[in-house]
Amino acid sequence: MFRDIFDAIPPSPVSLLEMVEKIEREKGTRVVRFDVAEPMFAPPWNAVKGTMDALLKGKHRYSSSWGVPELRHAITQYLKETRGLDYTPDEILVTTGGKFANFAFFLGLFKPGDSVVLIKPYWTSFRAVPMMLGLKILETWARDPYHLNEEDLKGLMKMRPRGIVVNTPNNPTGGLLDNGDLKLLNDLAEDYDLYVLSDEIDWAYVYDGRRFVSPASLSGLRERTIVTDGFSKIFGMTGWRVGFAVGPQELLRRLHVVQEHTVSAPTTFAQYGCLSALEGLHGPHQHGREGMR
Ligand SMILES: Cc1ncc(COP(=O)(O)O)c(C=O)c1O
Repeated sequence: MFRDIFDAIPPSPVSLLEMVEKIEREKGTRVVRFDVAEPMFAPPWNAVKGTMDALLKGKHRYSSSWGVPELRHAITQYLKETRGLDYTPDEILVTTGGKFANFAFFLGLFKPGDSVVLIKPYWTSFRAVPMMLGLKILETWARDPYHLNEEDLKGLMKMRPRGIVVNTPNNPTGGLLDNGDLKLLNDLAEDYDLYVLSDEIDWAYVYDGRRFVSPASLSGLRERTIVTDGFSKIFGMTGWRVGFAVGPQELLRRLHVVQEHTVSAPTTFAQYGCLSALEGLHGPHQHGREGMR
């Protein structure tokens, strides 16, 4: 039974990296990947320097299992400036990538047999992780490119799900939830007492004058939503493996339990590099030389 579930889990695009490198080496060609969301720009130079400085200053030890306090403070400012959200540093958990923040959401807030709603099309890991954890998955299609289908969602509520995942801007369509979608999400979450995962890792990839609104900016959603985000997609810092989960303490402390007993905390000097990346948003911006492929 256990084996069957693992055999059925689709691979993540990251697992193809070695194969891609082998093709590039053997064929002497460059593979342009559309399967993995990895920016082609280099990380900011101050992030690289901040990471090196941290090592030289002896930041070699474990950090707080919640993440470096200065970084958590800087993330509260970032959330305020980028999407108008008000959180305090004790509502921020710095994680090993956005991926681990999502994992901790599923493990921390649900028990095996609980159902969660996924909106198709979605990124592979939104299905893989709940499958691993023995959760039931309920699926509905978005209306193109990423709007909620009220009738289908209301139909799914009869199955009594405990949670729902939204990913705006959406990977893979790039679509955004609009105000009507957010109002519907708010009403469903309140009426059916759902936990909401709002994966906002691509928040800045918004085009054509459209506007990204975080679901957590609606008061009915804020208290039941975990926002996840990170440094991979916006800062080109995929290899740092730093992300964060944001939410009310009552929920977030459960995600913290998952982190403290598994990875302890993200890499300390990588967190300082991320702090420098955020500080650099207010100063001159320079890309580093490394990282371009
Ligand atoms: C929607 C979504 N969430 C999370 C992640 C993972 O990001 P991280 O590198 O921070 O773990 C990805 C990466 O492809 C993604 O597409």
